[in-house]
Amino acid sequence: MKRWEEQTALVTGAGRGIGRATAIMLASKGVRVAVNDINPDTAQATVEMIQTRNGKAVPAIGDVSNEHDVAQIHQTLNAQYGGVDILVNNAGIILKQPLQDVTEHEWDHILAVNLKGVFLNITHASHHMAEQGYGRIVNISSIAAKHGGGYLGNVAYGASKAGVASLTRGAAREYAPNGITVNAVMPGFTHTPMTDAMSNETRNRILAGMLIKRSAEPEEIARVITFLASPESGFITGETIDVDGGATLD
Ligand code: NAI
Repeated sequence: MKRWEEQTALVTGAGRGIGRATAIMLASKGVRVAVNDINPDTAQATVEMIQTRNGKAVPAIGDVSNEHDVAQIHQTLNAQYGGVDILVNNAGIILKQPLQDVTEHEWDHILAVNLKGVFLNITHASHHMAEQGYGRIVNISSIAAKHGGGYLGNVAYGASKAGVASLTRGAAREYAPNGITVNAVMPGFTHTPMTDAMSNETRNRILAGMLIKRSAEPEEIARVITFLASPESGFITGETIDVDGGATLD
């Protein structure tokens, strides 16, 4: 078992929202956090928030759907810190229009960011984890995976997040012999820039389907991610955990 202070984490899409809250929470445990985002300014802002709190953070700028960017990020982290012990695949984008109106480019793009990005980061991070016989991978799916979208995002979004859930189970099976656990969190309605632009009508429709009549704060999702990333969660793998205010009830 590795202590928090001995570990390096990579959190993708950590320039804002759930990713930022997760990066800050992991850093508060003593973990060195590589803050990935496609947006260098927001990534740098998260790094500075962590450093202001006396935490350890470095920027790791790049597009998770781009093999070249992902390889470069992991090469740098391998060279500087010996590799990643904790990988949080959080970066994601949403599409809201009906399936009928989705173009081929939009379909390819959302699958590339939300699903291929998870595949690329897992395969790059797993070498070091397997070598040391320890690793924690936490993927961010969504309850849209179960609803076929239609809740926060559309069908393409739900399909991409269902792919993440399946990838989580398969990767858990493949990497278990190497001491690596792979789990997913399925957030429900969470108060982040992704959901800020929502109309009141949509907000009320979503709240009507929840037992707890409010959105989650990003920290409430980050807390579950942090538990799955912790040394203490070693007997949980291939699991998807709903954090959805009682929206799904399964
Ligand atoms: P957000 O939109 O506020 O933040 C996402 C971050 O990912 C942004 O900083 C963005 O720049 C970054 N990003 C986007 N594309 C990227 C790329 N190709 N490479 C690197 N970074 C990229 O989103 P939020 O709400 O914090 O969501 C985080 C994750 O949680 C996403 O995967 C989302 O699908 C999922 N989720 C969110 C829910 C919500 O209600 N907010 C509900 C269920 C799941």
